[in-house]
Amino acid sequence: MSSRGITDSIREKLNIVDVVKDYIPDLRQAGRNHKACCPFHNEKTPSFTVSPDKQIFYCFGCNEGGDMFTFVMKMEGLTFVETLKKLSLKAGLEWQEAEYHQLSEKEKERLAIKKVLAAAEEFYKKLLFSSNGEKARLYLGARKISKATVERFAMGFAPPGEPALLQELERKGFSTELAVKAGLAALRDSGQVTDYFRNRVMFPIKNAAGEITAFGGRALDDSQQPKYLNSPETPLFAKRRTLYGIYEALPQIRKTGRLLILEGYMDVISAHQHGITFAVAGLGTALSTDHAAFIKRYSKDTILMFDADEAGINASIRASDIFMEAGMYVKVADLGEELDPDEYLNEHGVEAFEKKLLAAADPLEFRISALLKKRPGPMSSQDKARLIELLLDTVARQTDEILKSEWIKTLSARFDVTQESVLRQLNKKSGAARNESRAAGSEPPAASALPDVPAIELGFIHLILKDPGLTACVGELTEEDFQSPFSKKIFSAVKDMAGGEPAKAIPGLLELFPESAGLIMKLSVEEISDMNPEQNAAKAAAMIRKLSLERKWKSLKSRLSALEPAEIEEFRRLTGVLKSAAKSEPNL
Ligand code: GTP
Ligand code: MN
Repeated sequence: MSSRGITDSIREKLNIVDVVKDYIPDLRQAGRNHKACCPFHNEKTPSFTVSPDKQIFYCFGCNEGGDMFTFVMKMEGLTFVETLKKLSLKAGLEWQEAEYHQLSEKEKERLAIKKVLAAAEEFYKKLLFSSNGEKARLYLGARKISKATVERFAMGFAPPGEPALLQELERKGFSTELAVKAGLAALRDSGQVTDYFRNRVMFPIKNAAGEITAFGGRALDDSQQPKYLNSPETPLFAKRRTLYGIYEALPQIRKTGRLLILEGYMDVISAHQHGITFAVAGLGTALSTDHAAFIKRYSKDTILMFDADEAGINASIRASDIFMEAGMYVKVADLGEELDPDEYLNEHGVEAFEKKLLAAADPLEFRISALLKKRPGPMSSQDKARLIELLLDTVARQTDEILKSEWIKTLSARFDVTQESVLRQLNKKSGAARNESRAAGSEPPAASALPDVPAIELGFIHLILKDPGLTACVGELTEEDFQSPFSKKIFSAVKDMAGGEPAKAIPGLLELFPESAGLIMKLSVEEISDMNPEQNAAKAAAMIRKLSLERKWKSLKSRLSALEPAEIEEFRRLTGVLKSAAKSEPNL
């Protein structure tokens, strides 16, 4: 079956509304459409719209849109083929290996890496429960990890000594080259290829779809360095995009919109074991804008909880800066003791932990307390100015103007200075930052603009997108009569497909005119009065035709003395037509 074949079969079996509901249970019917808050940008009132008639989604807030495949690709960061595989499963269609030959080389490589990673997971799991795994089992026991948790996170054990994994993979027919590509084996200085992970408790790292993309391994002996080892970057694995625990946490995050970011593997595992199942962690590197973009799709309420040491505090500030700049609401929780979340949970239990989550502060509050803790005692005016200067750094990153003005009030009240002076200082700072970024040559991102189309043409196109059949009642109107190139091409394409169903027409148009996808989706999803569509379409068509004739008439008139005889004839005809149109339809 070709990929066209399988997409059609999937479209027949699945409804985009059900596909979207899997990710956004809040999707509610509103008129002919369904609406929810957009998973692709931050908003408080729903402008994300799903049209069952057209089988597309569109967000009026951020102009994201597409069909069910685009939706799943965007939600999960999957490739097209991965999405096909996933949706064919949901549709109850068999995913045939025959589909394989139409994958690109890159996709084939990704699939091969996934297979070898899955084989490695099996091997590591088996070893943890073998006699060789006793030391690792004892270690996990000492860290109070239950068997159920070990299974939930599919933990395993990479043995010390000989390259046991490589031997196993070879037995199973995987090449050494593939093992290296997947980050499971490495070339040592000796020139020998050996297992990458040795004598470690293994944590498979999964993507949002539950596929293993990498591993993390914790040293079993104190003398062993590094304490944690992550897979090297591979075609499947980029640290700056990965969150440990996301697959396990997603169901709960989707349900509640709540997400907790901790510092390490063991924090996440321990949190889940204690019932905090919406916890994830970065991989020991700073959280990135990629993380922010990913998290933003799922979480309305993000809490950062890092270790309560200096490094943890700084990491919290950096991460909340990044999240704020991405337009997210984020809070920072402080355990207030020299314990990490894992230790805290084991020592004080989940109720005390939940209290700390409830007490999470917004980034400004968090930074104020962190700074005041470092400089207790009375403050000179200069100290104050310096502190406010540091805090304005946080304020400047807040993209929500309401919150920003609240924060200015907070600073003025906290430090007993006027709001005006805080604001002036802030403006100075933002001015400087703007100049800096200009100097660095970075342009602000262009707003995703929709093309300029005259209102009357837009209204008409809107109608025929709802019902292509309406192109039958447009009189003499032709493609030439439209002013905007957008209207011209849509009109002529819709006219050609007038016999078909609207649900088929839109995907067809999107394919023909990908450059105008945003506007096509916007119009076809937008609600419109159902009163008299024929009459409205006919009126709009007449109006567009008349405007077109007037333009032609004016252009001829401007060259009147230089017209060819045929043009003079045309000018006379137009004058007559426009006069009688003005008489018969004074409203137009
Ligand atoms: P435990 O000692 O097992 O409780 O780990 P922890 O999570 O308390 O460790 P720590 O706070 O030191 O580290 C937090 C996270 O940083 C870990 O989960 C790792 O992702 C990462 N990390 C820590 N040490 C190393 C290291 O030596 N190398 C790398 N690459 N990452 C590390
Ligand atoms: Mn720890």
